[in-house]
Amino acid sequence: MEPAKAALIIIPPFSRYGIMETLEENITELDKFKELFGKAAEVAVTSPARVNIIGEHTDYNDGFVFPAAINRSTKFFASKNGTRTVKVYSSNYSELVEFDLEELKRTRHWSDYVKGVCRELSVQGCHLEGFDALIGGNIPIASGLSSSASLELAVCEACAVLFDLPLEPLEQIKLCRRAENQFVGVSCGIMDQFAIKLSRKGHGLFLDCRNLEYELIPIPSDELVFVIADSGVERGLGATEYHQRQKQCERGSLFFNSLNKSIRNLRDVSEDSLVVNRDNIDPVIFRRCRHVVTENKRVLLAAQALKNPDMKRFGELINQSHESCKSDYEVSCKELDLLVDLARMVPGVLGARMTGAGFGGCTINLVMRNRVEEFQQKVGSLYSKSTSLTAKFYVTEAEDGVSSRKL
Ligand code: GLA
Repeated sequence: MEPAKAALIIIPPFSRYGIMETLEENITELDKFKELFGKAAEVAVTSPARVNIIGEHTDYNDGFVFPAAINRSTKFFASKNGTRTVKVYSSNYSELVEFDLEELKRTRHWSDYVKGVCRELSVQGCHLEGFDALIGGNIPIASGLSSSASLELAVCEACAVLFDLPLEPLEQIKLCRRAENQFVGVSCGIMDQFAIKLSRKGHGLFLDCRNLEYELIPIPSDELVFVIADSGVERGLGATEYHQRQKQCERGSLFFNSLNKSIRNLRDVSEDSLVVNRDNIDPVIFRRCRHVVTENKRVLLAAQALKNPDMKRFGELINQSHESCKSDYEVSCKELDLLVDLARMVPGVLGARMTGAGFGGCTINLVMRNRVEEFQQKVGSLYSKSTSLTAKFYVTEAEDGVSSRKL
């Protein structure tokens, strides 16, 4: 017999943000959940990936960022199990892991993201019990689209719903960042968690990482879309370079602080004082500082360009950001540079840059809708001719942040 046509079943809007979702996309995961745990899931969470539009390596310098959530997401299904044990299955890895809530130890395994959030929730005084969970979704891993932060936010939201935890969005954001910083051991900034939790469809999220004030700015999407190009070069964030860049920024900010005590970090350094002090700073540290100072300015200008709206200018700023990431901050790589160069040769591309921590992962391209196919065809074929790699393309608009529903 033919299975029931799940595509026709529509779940009423139940999420916090009123997202409608067909059952079809979740049906296999819900079946798998039942098969694994012998009962139905009680809660379903959708937690998106994020792309950073502009403002790279500025978040941990108290600066400005402008990311958005995208149409790829983590799906997280969970049910209480009445014990002190968490059982979690990853569809990506086809692996079931079990751990005790009393013994949350890092194992350098994907389950650390789940454990880390459980640990931070307990530290915060939230009463957790055991649960069964299944992780699914379609975020490419280690591509710089924040699959890890997406999973952490999904776990946090699922626990909040399952155990009725009174957690404000900002508390969840900070808690998940602590899980990443302290449990997983990557000292990331706050951009990813913020974007994943609080993004809204059709908007970019302008965030001041110092005071955490943010503004959702509409992105005109009638003619333009984002095409994310995945280089196929994987680079884990735990890699030493990310932490090394942070240390270099600290050295820079210590130097400027020694000249002026009101300078807390690179956010407070002006372009003028950077130029004046050029010869007094180590050349590498100078370039790192110049990236952060000019990138902050570009984010502010980009937000203004969007509001005008002046998309040509917006695209130019995106292009400039790439040059700065490449030459001053040195977080690009030859494959990302190639993807950017190829993109800029295609008509209808307003801007192209690497996105995320760098050293691999993806580029983001602002492309006219009617040029998307041509873009993928040209960039894709020239990229694989010049490298032994195949680029993948994800076409997206800005999407909503985390949503959940009881099943
Ligand atoms: C990673 C980190 C973010 C941010 C970016 C670089 O995605 O998780 O906090 O620092 O790199 O902009």
